[in-house]
Amino acid sequence: MAVKTIGVLTSGGDAPGMNAAIRAVVRTALAEGLKVKGIMRGYAGLIDEEIIDLDLRSVSDIIHRGGTILYTARCPEFKTEEGMQTAIANARKHGIDGIVVIGGDGSFRGARDLSERGLPCVGVPGTIDNDISSTEYTIGFDTAMNTAMEMVDRLRDTAQSHERCTIVEVMGRHAGYIALHTGIAVGATAVLVPEVPFDLEKDVINKIVNTKKSGKKHFIVVVAEGVGRVNEIAKTIEEKCGIESRATILGHVQRGGSPTVRDRVMASNMGYEAVQLLKQGIGNRVICYNGGKMGNKDIFEALNEKKSYEFDLHKVAHDISI
Ligand code: ADP
Ligand code: F6P
Repeated sequence: MAVKTIGVLTSGGDAPGMNAAIRAVVRTALAEGLKVKGIMRGYAGLIDEEIIDLDLRSVSDIIHRGGTILYTARCPEFKTEEGMQTAIANARKHGIDGIVVIGGDGSFRGARDLSERGLPCVGVPGTIDNDISSTEYTIGFDTAMNTAMEMVDRLRDTAQSHERCTIVEVMGRHAGYIALHTGIAVGATAVLVPEVPFDLEKDVINKIVNTKKSGKKHFIVVVAEGVGRVNEIAKTIEEKCGIESRATILGHVQRGGSPTVRDRVMASNMGYEAVQLLKQGIGNRVICYNGGKMGNKDIFEALNEKKSYEFDLHKVAHDISI
């Protein structure tokens, strides 16, 4: 059944570029002669009936802004059958017959459940973690990595001045993609991620000791939050290598800020593609970017895929940090 009114929501953790995706959804839908409604605070807005009309100008001046104008939330109530039925009833009440869900894996599970109950949804991957299995790219990843790189560059200045080791924890939940890419970009001596087992003595301590012998005076160790323990790692490095060490947890600074070109373009393209599907009444799909091409997959299949870590790139990070 063709869709006449599209709802759009952002759910889970915010990511830079979500606004660009919202803008693309609104502008594409309106250009196609569809109506668009903004659902506030993710699935919570469907349950609480926080639904607003969006017109062409309602998404002006947002393409360059981090965060999400629709707000975002985690909504446990939505996972219950009762919550879901309330959400569907409210969507119908507001004439919404298809939804673009911008978020991560959890949000896609919600989109799948709504689609299965007759409300077609299309997922747009938005998370700084880049941990969504079906797609090589998720909105926000590039901006987060660039922010992390800039922050570590600053830490490097002080590590250089004091001839210290700086140990920095970056985000990524259970995934090490931000750590890996940032680690390479800042020339880290070691990159520790949850996907690759490591031996602190062999992979970090010995490396620092050996590079110190060849004249290296300051050191950077990038640690994914899935590994954590940065204070403990700093203490061990200080004790075993005789190098003053400091730990920093970058935290939510990585989630904010103006999106990079890559995130704005990806978000615009993904938002556009999502509306192209929904306008034909096609739901239960997620937008995916793979091998340089934009495409889409069945949500159920997408959620069952396993993303493989970039082991080859990890080896590069390891081999060139000598
Ligand atoms: P992300 O989308 O970034 O992975 P979450 O995992 O927190 O973030 O999920 C965001 C929201 O999606 C949850 O608060 C909930 O409302 C909904 N959601 C998550 N998992 C499920 C599920 N298994 N079934 C239905 N809805 C879900
Ligand atoms: O999924 C994005 C992310 O920033 C993760 O990297 C991190 O583990 C988590 O969200 C933090 O969640 P919250 O903002 O709820 O503390």
